[in-house]
Amino acid sequence: MEPEDEVLRRIVPTPEECGEIVGTAESLKKAAEEYFAAKGIDVSVRYVGSVAKGTFLRDPDVDLFIMFPESVPKTDMERLGIEAGIDLIDGRMMYAEHPYTTGNYRGLSVDLVPCYAVDSAEHLQTSVDRTPFHTDYILSHTDPTLRDQMRLTKKFMKGIGTYGAEPDVRGFSGYLCEVLTLHYGGFRELLKAASSWREGTVIVQEKRGPDMDAPLVLYDPVDRKRNVASAVHLDTMCRFIMAAREYLAHPDLKFFFPSPRKLMDREEVMRTIEERGTRFLTVTFSNPGIIEENLQAQIWKSQYALLRRLGENGFGPLMAAHGYDNDRVTIIFEMERDVLSKLHRHAGPPVWIGTSSNFLEKWKDNPCGQPFIEAGRWNVVAERGLRTAPEVLASEIHRSGIGKDLDQSSVCFTGHDGTVAEGDLALLTEILDPREPWEF
Ligand code: CTP
Ligand code: MG
Repeated sequence: MEPEDEVLRRIVPTPEECGEIVGTAESLKKAAEEYFAAKGIDVSVRYVGSVAKGTFLRDPDVDLFIMFPESVPKTDMERLGIEAGIDLIDGRMMYAEHPYTTGNYRGLSVDLVPCYAVDSAEHLQTSVDRTPFHTDYILSHTDPTLRDQMRLTKKFMKGIGTYGAEPDVRGFSGYLCEVLTLHYGGFRELLKAASSWREGTVIVQEKRGPDMDAPLVLYDPVDRKRNVASAVHLDTMCRFIMAAREYLAHPDLKFFFPSPRKLMDREEVMRTIEERGTRFLTVTFSNPGIIEENLQAQIWKSQYALLRRLGENGFGPLMAAHGYDNDRVTIIFEMERDVLSKLHRHAGPPVWIGTSSNFLEKWKDNPCGQPFIEAGRWNVVAERGLRTAPEVLASEIHRSGIGKDLDQSSVCFTGHDGTVAEGDLALLTEILDPREPWEF
């Protein structure tokens, strides 16, 4: 028996569960219809997403869409949508490209999203107007067997940590998993195809759209101007390619149900870093309290920016990991060294340039030695201004390219010893033991 059979047995909701979920979704739809009818507002209500498509796993969320006629002004549409969310599902306000609410209805978690009823996916008012077309497309191109194959794809992606289009995952959305499975005709077929994907792979399910620059391009079958895979980062794509190859070679349940990662304890961190002979640095900022998705994207940007600065300044960064809580954003770096030598070589102008005399004048009494010629330029050995990683980062932070909403003045640095003693063990484990979920 292939693992897939067992996986399906575990993840496909039973007919009773399906009945209950769909029943609850239906009754929420009805409640919403009555709610708007009582207010005299003309909308159509439908649930979309995986519950409507029959591709949901156990414990799904219901995506309930309130579709307004295009004659309703956007501000009214948004306000009425939010009010309905508060009244119907005790919703909490969320922001994607436009506001929606997330809450609960009879034990199911619900996203209540206002949008416009448009006549085609190419005539959008907002980005979510496409979603009902996605639902129709998947429903009309699948049978129950193929929907189960889509469930396998989604669960596999969850297991290996590549499911979700949010910036923290930078991965495959539910709809992307579905279209990929449909395109190749099944879960195994998708894995086989993905085994030979490469950066810049383009997939055309219905119609090719304009050229797009992304690691993976899948033209949306309902709107060829959009790349369904636009959120997929090259590294996430590569992780999926790797997992696909390894699964085909050694199919195993652990790809779908990885064991939770065991965190290193403090002592193990100490021992490991001692053996590696490398150094840690923790950089934290106060949490700016912006929309979570933006925050996640900005933390990635900051991590890359600081990593580049550490590299340019000779600290030899090896690894980095980040996390955040309500209070602070934390990025930990591992690097070859956190203190630079007292002296360094400072390059001057080519010897034949007129201004080179200024260079000679400036350095003529240099305590570390005379300027010297190498490869046609003046050079001098000089004392560094800043020697430690925190000093260098602090002095460059304003031009380092960190996320725009992170408050530069809130930055705090914790050096190697402090990080070893008190650094977040999940982040330290991620750095010191970068195995993939299916490898442990
Ligand atoms: N959607 C999208 N692009 C995204 C996220 C969502 O187009 N990056 C649309 C899709 O049409 C999707 C719907 O919004 O079907 C609902 O989103 P979500 O709940 O995230 O996906 P589901 O398909 O419902 O999958 P899941 O089982 O994870 O809820
Ligand atoms: Mg959903």
